[in-house]
Amino acid sequence: MIYGVVLAGGIGSRMGNVDKPKQFLQVGNKPIIVHTVEKFMVNSRIDKVIVLCPQQWISYTKDLFRKYAVVSDKLDIIEGGKTRNDTIMNAITFIENTEGLDEDTVVVTHDSVRPFVTHRIINENIDAVLAGTACDTVIPATDTIVESMDNHVISQIPDRSKYYQGQTPQSFRAKEFQDLFNSLTDEEKRILTDAAKVFVIKGKQVTLVQGETFNIKITYPYDLQLAETLLGGEKDC
Ligand code: CTP
Repeated sequence: MIYGVVLAGGIGSRMGNVDKPKQFLQVGNKPIIVHTVEKFMVNSRIDKVIVLCPQQWISYTKDLFRKYAVVSDKLDIIEGGKTRNDTIMNAITFIENTEGLDEDTVVVTHDSVRPFVTHRIINENIDAVLAGTACDTVIPATDTIVESMDNHVISQIPDRSKYYQGQTPQSFRAKEFQDLFNSLTDEEKRILTDAAKVFVIKGKQVTLVQGETFNIKITYPYDLQLAETLLGGEKDC
């Protein structure tokens, strides 16, 4: 089974003073999370979609999907976790308790606030996992990367051609992530907020899937304006 796991467990603190977590803000004629979830619902290679949001927003989210007619046996809405990786673990535990977990259970984990993900990206994530490794969606770094160990002076300027910016989806076999995550110390769990990094620090291969510059993460108020503009270029939204 291949699951789309839409991560909406955050509160969007960097968005500033808004009355709801950023994933519920409107872009174009729909909330951001509806745009994102629709991409996974219509992809025929995704068997099930799990949306994870803060506990106090579950009934709101269910109402929202009813309102925008995104209701199907393919969709489940459940509680997220304290950290982003805890949210992924909640999805995996849910799968374990419902359909069961086996070596062929694949999760395509995606930020709810990246509504411009494409089917090409989702399909290449699935292909990478089926070919045998975890994968991460990235774009080449465009600006020069500058390292500063003391946040004051430059310690190094690495070769930009070897650096990428991480996006999502990040995809992997659910059982493998569960085993690796459970083997981390509490301190490692605290500092490891990125799922791909869990594989990397455990010496596992993570292959790169080419992202898109427009596959932005809506983080700050400015990104909402950018998203409105990008939406104008999308035919199906
Ligand atoms: N996320 C999640 N569970 C958490 C934290 C984050 O599912 N415990 C999700 C967010 O809802 C978001 C994605 O991970 O879709 C990317 O995280 P980020 O942009 O950092 O979202 P927030 O944590 O909500 O934002 P902020 O850091 O500004 O509070």
